[in-house]
Parts: sequence; structure tokens; C-alpha cells
Amino acid sequence: MSSVYGVILAGGIGSRMGNVEKPKQFLELGGKPVIIHTIEKFVVHPGLDKILVLSPRAWVSYTQDIIRKYIPSSSDRVVVLSGGETRNETIMNAIRYIDKEGMLDEDTIIVTHDSVRPFVTHRIIEENIQYAKKYGACDTVIPATDTIVESKDNSKITDIPNRKFMYQGQTPQSFRAKMLKDMYESLSDGEREILTDACKIMVLKGQHVHLVQGETFNIKITYPYDMTVAKALLNTEDKKC
Ligand code: CTP
Repeated sequence: MSSVYGVILAGGIGSRMGNVEKPKQFLELGGKPVIIHTIEKFVVHPGLDKILVLSPRAWVSYTQDIIRKYIPSSSDRVVVLSGGETRNETIMNAIRYIDKEGMLDEDTIIVTHDSVRPFVTHRIIEENIQYAKKYGACDTVIPATDTIVESKDNSKITDIPNRKFMYQGQTPQSFRAKMLKDMYESLSDGEREILTDACKIMVLKGQHVHLVQGETFNIKITYPYDMTVAKALLNTEDKKC
């Protein structure tokens, strides 16, 4: 049986969050750091063999400390590693670790998830595992609610695609890890700069990327305003439990 890894991407510094004292994944949300909420969703999922958390190099030991503090029972399943310069490089660091451990084969699955999307559900993780096994790659999306307007020069409209074919990308994005690594390594430096989305690499290489239905509340905390929304969402989540 091949392994399934949760890969929590926390290698960013959250520049759009403004001048806060720590990267946004470590800010407090309802009494614990955002990233702890996210890791908890993965830790309770029985379909994941191990969870890799990738933090900025300077925050690795801090990340280990808060995991020990808030989720002490998880220590045998969670490993903290350094992230990379870009989001894709962070994913590659996770795959390189799996390879080094001798666990990377054709069927090894990674479920990659933004550390700053703490409202991911059990169902979304479950379907990501299923579809990544079945199709090799999948992406979590919701149907676009607003009409998407394209402007290539940031001044006039160049296209208005039909909304019924448009979706908004969320995470998790899940892959056969070896296939993603092989495709990433085949890209030129120029292509790597443009292909910032791991699913886009797969699509451009002609690989089937299956859709997983996301949730409107599976938001990404990007700007200070999103923390206000996250606090409200946390209250509704607590009431559901
Ligand atoms: N991420 C990562 N490694 C990087 C860059 C980003 O693991 N080199 C992670 C972030 O920590 C975050 C997720 O990818 O959980 C989504 O990225 P984004 O919201 O853009 O995060 P940041 O890069 O931290 O934010 P900003 O663009 O505002 O600096």
C-alpha cells in the first residue's frame, strides 16, 4: 500500500497581511494559531499516513513548539520541514523529503493545502485522496459567483468568459507526488516563473486534473479583512459541533 501524505504549505511570509508581528499562519484565531486549526483537520483524518508541515526556515522550531503545545498527541504523525522560495518549491521540499525517506513511488499521494485555509472539511480531504488515487491529480474549486472579466493590459476588457465554465480555485490540490516532481523538473526556469500553480503544471502537460467541490467557507486568509471573516466563521463552526 502506497502512502498518502498531508502537506501543509506554510512557507510564506504573508506580505499582503500588512505589518503584523508574525506570518499570518501563526496569528491567533479563537485562542490558537491559524495553522493549528488547519493541522488539526488533517491530523484527525484517518486516510493520511503522515502530515508534513513546511514553514519558513526561521519559523521551523516555533512551528514545532506550537504543535507540541496544542496537539501533543500528533507528534508521531507530524513532521516540520523548511519551505522553499516559492510555493512550488515548498511542495518540492515535501516531495524531496518523502524521496529521502525511501517512500516515493508511482502511487504516493500528496494532499497539498494552504496553511491559511483552516476551514477545510473532512469530506474535501476525503475526496481529494480518492480522486488523486483515481486520476493522478485533483483541484478543489467552487463555481464562480461573480462574472470573471479578463484584462490583459489592466486597462480595457479583453474577454468575458462564460461564467458557467468558470470556477474559483481553492485547496487542497492533490497529486501523485512522483509525477508532479517529474513534470516540475522538466520545466525551464522561465516556465517555473510563470507556472506558479501546481495544477497548472499538470494541465499544461496534458494531465487530467479532476475537480473536487469545495466550500464557500473554505476561505484563504490573505488580507486583514479575512481574519474578521474567519472569526465569524469559527463561531458558526463551533455551533455545528
Ligand atoms: N506558501 C509556501 N511557500 C512559499 C509561499 C507561500 O508554503 N514560498 C504558502 C503560504 O504560507 C500560504 C499558501 O502558500 O499558506 C498560500 O499562499 P499566499 O496566501 O500567497 O501566502 P503568502 O505568500 O504568505 O502571502 P503573500 O502573498 O501576501 O506574501
